[in-house]
Amino acid sequence: MNAHDSEKVIGTLVSKGYTQVDTPEAAELVLYNTCSIRDKAEQKVFHRLQQFKREAGKGKVFGVLGCVAQQEGEKIFEKAPHVSLVAGSASYTKLPEMLVQLEAGGRRVTGLSLDTDETFETPFTRRDNPHRAYITIIEGCDKSCAYCVVPFTRGPERSRTSASAMDEARRLAEEGYTEIQLLGQNVNSYRDPSPPGWDFATLLTRIGEIPGIRRVRFTTSHPRDFVKAIVEAIDENPALCNHVHLPVQSGSNRVLAAMDRLYTRDEYMRRISWLKSARRNIAITTDIIVGFPGETEADFNETLALLDEVQYDSLFSFKYSPRPNTAALAMGDKIPEEEKTRRLTMVQERQRAIQLRRNSEAVGTVQEVLVEGRNQSLGQWIGRTSQNRTLNFSHAGGNDERLLGQYLDVRVTRAGPNSLVGESVM
Ligand code: 5AD
Ligand code: SF4
Repeated sequence: MNAHDSEKVIGTLVSKGYTQVDTPEAAELVLYNTCSIRDKAEQKVFHRLQQFKREAGKGKVFGVLGCVAQQEGEKIFEKAPHVSLVAGSASYTKLPEMLVQLEAGGRRVTGLSLDTDETFETPFTRRDNPHRAYITIIEGCDKSCAYCVVPFTRGPERSRTSASAMDEARRLAEEGYTEIQLLGQNVNSYRDPSPPGWDFATLLTRIGEIPGIRRVRFTTSHPRDFVKAIVEAIDENPALCNHVHLPVQSGSNRVLAAMDRLYTRDEYMRRISWLKSARRNIAITTDIIVGFPGETEADFNETLALLDEVQYDSLFSFKYSPRPNTAALAMGDKIPEEEKTRRLTMVQERQRAIQLRRNSEAVGTVQEVLVEGRNQSLGQWIGRTSQNRTLNFSHAGGNDERLLGQYLDVRVTRAGPNSLVGESVM
């Protein structure tokens, strides 16, 4: 989401006559797009701002964008006096005006209002990847998970009209993009604000029907709003990738309730059973938080047991990080840092064994990959399967750059915990 925001900001600036330079040192205007989902990401911003100012900041104009900007607001001007623009993502539609103020000599320009029902749409997105394109379908979040800063930094939920999302997808297909990734904090609660009134499963299906689009992915899903129609859509349309990221956060009902996640373990497992009984072999991945306030050893063991039960294809795991404004801040019974580290390591070790086993099951199969890169030192191509696995492969055709962006069948010959190895099928 954050990376795509940068693409949109760059596109907007370029359309106004700015030029992107190759290095921050060569720039006159330096914009930092920031993340505040966990504390580490936030600390990094201030460190980099200081360091860059010392080394190469002379005479440059600095701006801070994104969630740290939204969260810290004008305090950023005190902490980093060389910054003269602070704007959160809900204000990006006003960026061109803010830049005019900066050019007119403005010293403390801000865009901090969350009071918007618009999404940030721009026809001028500058995309980083020549084959896969992101499309935002919904911004903000109306949930209030006790650990999460997003509702405070990205504001209330607002969906884009289906016509505008479809137009963007069609345009991308015409430009030669073959993979589309639909983005939103909670794509499952997408609701078309215009008369067709499409829900997420309908939008997903329609995007998958656009000629030229070979792969559609989406992220991220909230289990509470994840309906069976999404699984049915995946079953019916091969262009929809057989991968669902369904963040669970914890396997303990007590912790899920304290997190205000709005589902129980059983309700979550019902969604997993829909995915597992689909006709297609749908890969399932998740996010886990360890060390949420009050998480006991017994709660934590339930998370480990959930990993065994679901057998995820991959997961992201995090130590709970206290965030400003969130409900969890006031909760007692904090878990010590060393204990969080121990639990994180246990999750990762358990998952590593599961992944190795899951990936081994793929050995001998033939999978279609989108060729995304080349590992020169290994003499291998880097491909991605529909299930979102990395599949490194050799190709008798040799080192022809034109392979990039193509779809090829690859036979899997070996499996590691994090990727597969294979050879292309001629
Ligand atoms: N501490 C740790 N992890 C967090 N996440 C969100 N907020 C926090 C936090 N305060 C994780 C969740 C979410 C993912 C994007 O980041 O697992 O699904
Ligand atoms: Fe944060 Fe919960 Fe919204 Fe996801 S659903 S962005 S975790 S508040």
